[in-house]
Amino acid sequence: MELKINTAASLKGKIAIPGDKSISHRAIILGAMAEGDTTIVDFLPAADCLSTLKCMRALGVGVEELSSTNLVIHGVGANGFKEPGNVLDVGNSGTTLRILTGVLAGQDFFSVLTGDESVRRRPMDRVIAPLLEMGAEIWGRKNGTRAPISILGHSLHGISYTTTIPSAQVKTALLLAGLLAEGKTIVAEEFQSRDHTERMLEVMGADISVEGTTCTISGGGILRGAEIDIPGDISSAAFLIAGALIVPDSEVLIKDVGVNPTRTGVLDVLKEMGGRLERVSFSVKNGEPRSDMLVKSSKLSGTVIGGEKIPGLIDELPVLAVVATQAQGTTVVSGAQELRVKEADRISAICGELGNLGAQIEEREDGFIVEGPTALKGTVCDSHGDHRIAMALAIAGLVATGTTVIRGAECVDISFPGFEKTLRSLIG
Ligand code: S3P
Repeated sequence: MELKINTAASLKGKIAIPGDKSISHRAIILGAMAEGDTTIVDFLPAADCLSTLKCMRALGVGVEELSSTNLVIHGVGANGFKEPGNVLDVGNSGTTLRILTGVLAGQDFFSVLTGDESVRRRPMDRVIAPLLEMGAEIWGRKNGTRAPISILGHSLHGISYTTTIPSAQVKTALLLAGLLAEGKTIVAEEFQSRDHTERMLEVMGADISVEGTTCTISGGGILRGAEIDIPGDISSAAFLIAGALIVPDSEVLIKDVGVNPTRTGVLDVLKEMGGRLERVSFSVKNGEPRSDMLVKSSKLSGTVIGGEKIPGLIDELPVLAVVATQAQGTTVVSGAQELRVKEADRISAICGELGNLGAQIEEREDGFIVEGPTALKGTVCDSHGDHRIAMALAIAGLVATGTTVIRGAECVDISFPGFEKTLRSLIG
């Protein structure tokens, strides 16, 4: 599918954003591991989360779809899954692959996980190595580092582990394996990654404690089903926030966005750059803060992003690159080499595509340098099969002259169904 975006005179209006992807995955998986029912409100019915749902069903979990966004998960208990009759296919979802590896390592059966071509390129050793230390038996392609992976599940024992890379997927896999293991499991990270799992485990009654960037979970605990109300995904909102900041004469109100502090790095950076964005309400549901956000077009300046800020805005870096092309001065992003092993090599993809649009962007091994502001010129771009690259290019198209065509834009449905409609409603 091709997405065609013309220069926008302004972005104006009030919008809601689909549910948070990370929280949606966790609500299904933790709900399945709980005893009793979990009701999920404002679930994200996007391809990635539907992959998790399909895997849960294949593992014997009952799911009632009251509507596309409201579900009831009939929990089977942490050890209650059934051996799947076939290979589990996670599609494009690295989150499903990594988290389920931890859950399945501690079940009493054999299972195989695979996914699409992009998922089969994603490094798995970061999660398999610590699980092997916990006593797991897991095999994978390329010397145990790539899917498909096969798992001979059985009892595990707790470990104390410092992750090699801050990663909420790895941390979650280890905490859920820890819930199934004997004894305590301690997971420490150099920098804080998103903490939705810890918050949800606490809501569901697990014995978990968090001190700084170290989490400790006791094995053998019982999770209780809960009502999980999911806020709008800040990573999806980030595209529209970016658009409203760089398109002149814009004013956009975004309703009910998740503002968990482990996810709001993008807001901090945009404010540092001079962005006029304001939180105009605040509430907390199931331990997750949320707020409405008012964004107005702004005069922006370049900034420096690196170090411990990176995990809190890793998914937003492609659209931050777009914003940087419209900011005065230099923006430097470093320490973001993880971007190379996402759905696509996002450093190479965004540098190449923005370069074609006329941006002054220099690729670095661990990030990029942008000189701004530059006038972008619409042309034909490629999504590289990556939803966040496709949407970042659509935002660039709003300020580029003429028409920007994004080829392979169907991948937007991985995380933001309705993106085009929402964006067009603001263009008017
Ligand atoms: C996610 C964690 C992050 C993020 C991904 C979703 C999650 O990945 O990039 O989009 O839901 O746990 P890493 O754990 O690889 O950093």
